[in-house]
Amino acid sequence: MNSVSIKKTANGAEYLKSVQIGSDCLDVDQRGILTIGGVAADRLVAEFGSPLFVISESTVRQNFRAVRRAFSERWPAPVNVMYAIKANNNLAVRAIVSAEGGGGDCFGMGELYATFQGGADPALIAMNGSLKTAQEIDEAVRRGVTINIDAEDEIDKVCAAARKYGVRAKVMLRLKILNDYLRNVGSDYMGISDEAGIYDRIEAIKFGFGPDMAAALTRRLADLPELDHVGFHYHVGRYSLRKDVITELYSGFAQAVVRLHEQTGFWPRIVDIGGGIPRERDPESRQLALNQLKIDDYAETVCGALLSNLKTTGLPTPALWLEPGRYIIGNASVLLTTIGTIKRDLGRIWVNVDSSTNLLMRIDTSASRYHILPATGMTRSFKEPALIVGLTCIPSVFSANQSIPDLAAGDVLAILDTGMYSETTSTQFNGVPRPATVLVNDGDAELIKARETVEDVFRLHQIPERLRGE
Ligand SMILES: Cc1ncc(COP(=O)(O)O)c(C=O)c1O
Repeated sequence: MNSVSIKKTANGAEYLKSVQIGSDCLDVDQRGILTIGGVAADRLVAEFGSPLFVISESTVRQNFRAVRRAFSERWPAPVNVMYAIKANNNLAVRAIVSAEGGGGDCFGMGELYATFQGGADPALIAMNGSLKTAQEIDEAVRRGVTINIDAEDEIDKVCAAARKYGVRAKVMLRLKILNDYLRNVGSDYMGISDEAGIYDRIEAIKFGFGPDMAAALTRRLADLPELDHVGFHYHVGRYSLRKDVITELYSGFAQAVVRLHEQTGFWPRIVDIGGGIPRERDPESRQLALNQLKIDDYAETVCGALLSNLKTTGLPTPALWLEPGRYIIGNASVLLTTIGTIKRDLGRIWVNVDSSTNLLMRIDTSASRYHILPATGMTRSFKEPALIVGLTCIPSVFSANQSIPDLAAGDVLAILDTGMYSETTSTQFNGVPRPATVLVNDGDAELIKARETVEDVFRLHQIPERLRGE
């Protein structure tokens, strides 16, 4: 059993208790108002407006430390936890990770920029991507970032940049591992087990080099004095909570590394296993039930699979690099949104709020499901099921069957787990400016991203002179 269903609860406070996980900084004050990082939801909305993303600093720190501890305890060589900034690119979040000593994973110029604005150490940063421009590669090499090569012609670009700056550029090769065990295994994690098996998904995806190409490129890298080939990269995402599947995924990677050593004589100083660490509460698992695989079990399974295979060579254990995004930021953020109107008709109730699912894109693209709390009425008894809907001109259904107490316009709802892949994938559909973001900690709240204005939405648009009216 990999997940536990949510029990029926009497009110928001009880509901919260039934889904709460260790690093949440959520509570209910004496007035029955939800608090986040010690700050009441009504105060946050009064001070910073609505809708509002609220990020708990302590949660980010606790999650980061949990990953580092779980893997460091089990890995007999250095461990570098690299925040995957694609999950949430707020510069203040990146600064918190930097203060914790975290490395980073970045795609492209934007994420490279944000990673360094947030104070990252170049020695702990890797650049990923299936298409890296010469300009991006140049900037990464200039800054001393390790480049995870995912296309043959990137090699020439890295060499050119290394010659330009007079450095030996650090590179890894991204591998694609096809493991027969996974041919008929579906993804229990994302609730898509009736679709293509994991094997087919990995085989079809654009990322990584297969075994022959990886061997040929490993030999080629050895002949290039401009490059320092430091290791291999492998990211498969979170397909499964089954330990047998996780074991197969990471044993397959380690076996490929051992085979490449037999073929080429190359032994890595680093193995980078990407992100995809499962969260207990994860909207993208398409269910409200909590996942039962804890970080220690996950680390034990992954490290066991890697080490048992790598150790067969008797060679030094490489450093372990990890690129978690969702695990670090997922539950750190809550979206506060205010009820504007409640429509009762045809036996249904539509609670209309002042945000929309275009802030949580994966509801519409990946059937993600979020927990929603009545933030300003946590102790009011649940009365009836309602649809919670957003204001844009799509159905924008945050929840189709949400237990709600007596609510009125002006009440605030809290949508949990909005830290990952929400702000970074949000849109300005219907010309709606995006919310502000605040950081909360120990009862204090600080603005870390200003609210957009309508002018911001249209700032880069231009009307050609000939189309301008008189
Ligand atoms: C290369 C790479 N590393 C890390 C991540 C982060 O994954 P997650 O947020 O599931 O930890 C991703 C996500 O797509 C990725 O593509």
